[in-house]
Amino acid sequence: MRRPRRLRTTPAMRRLVRETHVHPAQLVLPVFVREGLEAPREIESLPGVRQHTLDSLAGVIDEAAAAGIGGVMLFAIPEVRDATGTAACAADGILNLAIARAAEASAGRLVVMADLCLDEFTDHGHCGVLAADGSVDNDATLEVYAQMALAQARAGAEVLGLSGMMDGQTAAVRAALDAEGLIDVSILAYSAKYASAAYGPFRDAVESELVGDRKAYQMDPANRREGLVESTLDEAEGADIVMVKPALPYLDVLADVAAASAVPVAAYHVSGEYSQIEAAAERGWIDRRVAHLEAVTSIVRAGADIVLTYAAVEAATWLKEDM
Ligand code: PBG
Repeated sequence: MRRPRRLRTTPAMRRLVRETHVHPAQLVLPVFVREGLEAPREIESLPGVRQHTLDSLAGVIDEAAAAGIGGVMLFAIPEVRDATGTAACAADGILNLAIARAAEASAGRLVVMADLCLDEFTDHGHCGVLAADGSVDNDATLEVYAQMALAQARAGAEVLGLSGMMDGQTAAVRAALDAEGLIDVSILAYSAKYASAAYGPFRDAVESELVGDRKAYQMDPANRREGLVESTLDEAEGADIVMVKPALPYLDVLADVAAASAVPVAAYHVSGEYSQIEAAAERGWIDRRVAHLEAVTSIVRAGADIVLTYAAVEAATWLKEDM
């Protein structure tokens, strides 16, 4: 009789035949830095995750590097917001200061990435600048993204995470970087980014001022083929890495993109995905460690080379324990 269970009999046998191995170097930790904070502050809807000060950021980088993870993705919350997100492009804007601080603390031990989007910096909370009719003006936003890219690159970001879902953003940022000789700065394009309910806790984390939604620029959760349209465009525009986001509800899209892509593929296990595990674990309904490792493993199994997760540092520790 054919007995597939033979290969499940012992831990050593299961390890021998395992198809998917996740390595800490594949994991990226999103980190929040808040201007004007005196000490790190807990984010209620993201248990275990904090808003950091520039000083506590250095400690996070040390911890992440010691855990052997691949990188950090920086987000920042400014004290003052305006219609065009001025603080995003200022050399002394909080995100650019955080990039410089992280690059210094990392000293090459991990890759420093920065979120390139305006939603944390605008007083209306949208990812771009607005036209007179209140809609997000795609092409005017590209000009601001180009300036933001230069500021981030000059601050020391190695990878720019383009998360705004404006058409043509990858080409616009690549052209701006190249024109200034910033040829070694990479672009991680949030290619297939869906308008998801799972960004809820993140919006608390960045104190989002958004009223309404982002459905006119982020993708419709019902669309699978369009994920490939977006990732193909970003690759053609010069993306060095493409991403699918959120992760677990979009593993079909991730598998499509991974099959078609000639560049590395990332996936973002977003705040709401993380907090669902945390909330259930708090109630004793789910095993946190097993659930987080299952999530990361499934995302890699579906085709991701890189996984962004708020559990990156812990997951790296667990993975090493399991080795
Ligand atoms: C936009 C951005 C968002 C996230 C990452 N970049 C929020 C949004 O699109 O509303 C969400 C990440 C998460 O939920 O963990 N700058």
